[in-house]
Parts: sequence; C-alpha cells; structure tokens
Amino acid sequence: MRHLSVPSKETASWKARLESEEWLAKGHGIHHLDDRRGIPLTTAAPEEIDGLPILDLPPLTSNPKHWTERLPQEIREANKSDWPMAHDQIGDVVILKIPEVVETHSNIIGQCILDQIPSARIVCADKGVKGEFRVRSLESIASRDGTTTTQTRVKEHGALLWVDPGSAYYSPRLATERQGTLACARGLNTRLKRPLVICDPYAGVGPALLPLLAEEGLVDRIVASDLNPKATSLLRKNLPDSAWVGCRDARKLHEEMAGFADIVLVNLPHNSIDHLPDMIPLLAKGHEVIIRGWAILPLEQMDAAEKKVRAILGSNNLLSLELVPSRSYSPRDAYTCIEAHLLLSE
Ligand SMILES: C[S@@+](CC[C@H](N)C(=O)[O-])C[C@H]1O[C@@H](n2cnc3c(N)ncnc32)[C@H](O)[C@@H]1O
Repeated sequence: MRHLSVPSKETASWKARLESEEWLAKGHGIHHLDDRRGIPLTTAAPEEIDGLPILDLPPLTSNPKHWTERLPQEIREANKSDWPMAHDQIGDVVILKIPEVVETHSNIIGQCILDQIPSARIVCADKGVKGEFRVRSLESIASRDGTTTTQTRVKEHGALLWVDPGSAYYSPRLATERQGTLACARGLNTRLKRPLVICDPYAGVGPALLPLLAEEGLVDRIVASDLNPKATSLLRKNLPDSAWVGCRDARKLHEEMAGFADIVLVNLPHNSIDHLPDMIPLLAKGHEVIIRGWAILPLEQMDAAEKKVRAILGSNNLLSLELVPSRSYSPRDAYTCIEAHLLLSE
C-alpha cells in the first residue's frame, strides 16, 4: 500500500490536507519511520505529492474501538443488538454476562476479547452471584495460555492483592469506601496516640486492611477472618505473618477472643445490622472504639434503621452514630455506611 513519508512534526497537518483531498486511506494506521511518518494513501492519490517520498509499505490495520468489531461480519450482523457491550476486568480476568441468544458464540466472543485486551489472560462468562459467600459463578470461555484459574492479582491504591473472583468475594468498586476506613482509623490513631488493633471478621481477601497496613504507625495488630475457606487462604497470602487469620463465623469470634479491638469492620451488607450484637463483645473497653459497617438499607427507612442500630449498641455507650447512604444499590435501596463511636465501660 502506498504511504506518504512526511516529517513526524508535520503528521497532523499532512493528515488534514490528505483527508481534505480524499487521499487519506481511513481505517489504516500510520507507520512510524524514525523521525518520519508514513501516512496511508487511497488509490485516488496522485503519483507525486509536493516532492515527498511515496513508499510501498504493508497496510496497518488500526485497532477496533470495541471487541465486537472483531467478530466475523456475518455473525455480528445477524445478532446486532444482542452483544454484551460491558465487561469487568479484575487483574487479568475479564468477566461479562452473555445473553442467552448469543451464548452459542461464547468461545468466539472470548477470543475477540483476548485479541482486543492485551492484558487479559482469561475471559469468563458470569453466571450470577451465588451462595452465602456472594461469589460469582464463572465459566471460562477463552484463555490466552490454556490456564483456567481465576486467581489473579490486582493493585488497589498502590498495594498488590491476591483475589479470585470465582471463589471469594471481591469488588474493586468499594475502593473509595476503603479510603474512608483509612481516614476513620487515622482519626482514632491521633486521638488514642497509639497504633490500633483492627478486627475485620468479614474480611474476604482483605482489601479493607491493606491501606491501613501501608500506613506507618497506624496498626498494632490485625485480627481478620471470613467464613469462606477460599477467601481465608487468599487472606493469609495478602496479610503479613503477624496478622491473626481465621476461618470463622463472625458471630462466634467473641467466644474465642473478646474486648480487644479498637475498630471492628462489619461488611456483610445484607445482614450487618442483625450481626451487630455479636460484634460489640469484640470491642475494647474504657476508651473510644469504632464500629464501621456497611448495610443495604431502604432509603425511606433510614430513620428506623438508625433507631434499631442505636438500640443494639446502647445509647449510653454511644459517643456518635452516623448512617451515610453513599451509593444507590437499587432504585429504593442505598449502600449505607454506618459508623458508630463508642465508649464501653470496663
Ligand atoms: C460483602 S463481602 C466483604 C468482603 C471484604 N470485607 C471486602 O470488602 O471485599 C462479605 C464477606 O463475608 C463473608 N461471610 C458471610 N457470612 C459470614 C459469617 N457469618 N461470618 C464471617 N464471614 C462471613 C463472605 O464470605 C464474604 O467474604
């Protein structure tokens, strides 16, 4: 294919000129030739353009903007409005919901996504969130290297974290909430003038704890557990050896250890409030302590929820209580952060 060789600094102006003359071959990329660029020409372009060299170079196909453009044309046209347009990427795992009508094309969809996203290793069909551990059922539809594990590593606020979206709950969307937890811990650290004991009984793979551990002087001890054994094996990989890690029902943790935590995190959004009574015994006595939890609450029942939390925690113990709806979960429900500062008598 003929390409016009131009000084690299003049690429934009030459592209505009060729386009205006209808000599620019659209849909093809520009060759990088040291300090010059090769701009693709249409067959209508003349043999000579301002005395510049015209080179015969292989055409560069510019990258499609979306993976669906890589589907064979006849398949793409036949199912025009049915292709899944959104996907999630967690580490090198791409996850997407595939509508039933195009399910027979799952493998080709996976292949096109691998071609489109160089950092993807495996593409999985999302079969929905299942069970008490809120884990997505994933089915591998294409793999770059033949591996089918969904275990991968992600970076959150500079820290590396082992996750496995196919066996333990993890959501990158909660990264801002975790920054809020960091700010809350910094405040208590300043007031108590010492590193803190943090307890995360619904820790998953531990994303809430890493930002706290990254801050010097903030953490004295971590007690982290989860009921899902697959989550706790990743939790062990993600936390330092000094952390206590267990596979426990959070409601029973206080039977083993009690009265030790400066902060207890309660992240079980469908049941957090019901589990609160079993969180109180974990808290240390005689100084300010914090319960920070998340719950999915109906917007019109915020006041009732606050009353319920106040009753569980005991008004006499409460220094402050805030329920802050942060994101909508459904048209009627909000993902709400509950933060209670308490002083329990010894
Ligand atoms: C919404 S996830 C939160 C995970 C983690 N804190 C995060 O932010 O990614 C809730 C976690 O609670 C765990 N879980 C559910 N019921 C539990 C229980 N009774 N005791 C302890 N963990 C439980 C699930 O396995 C899941 O990992």
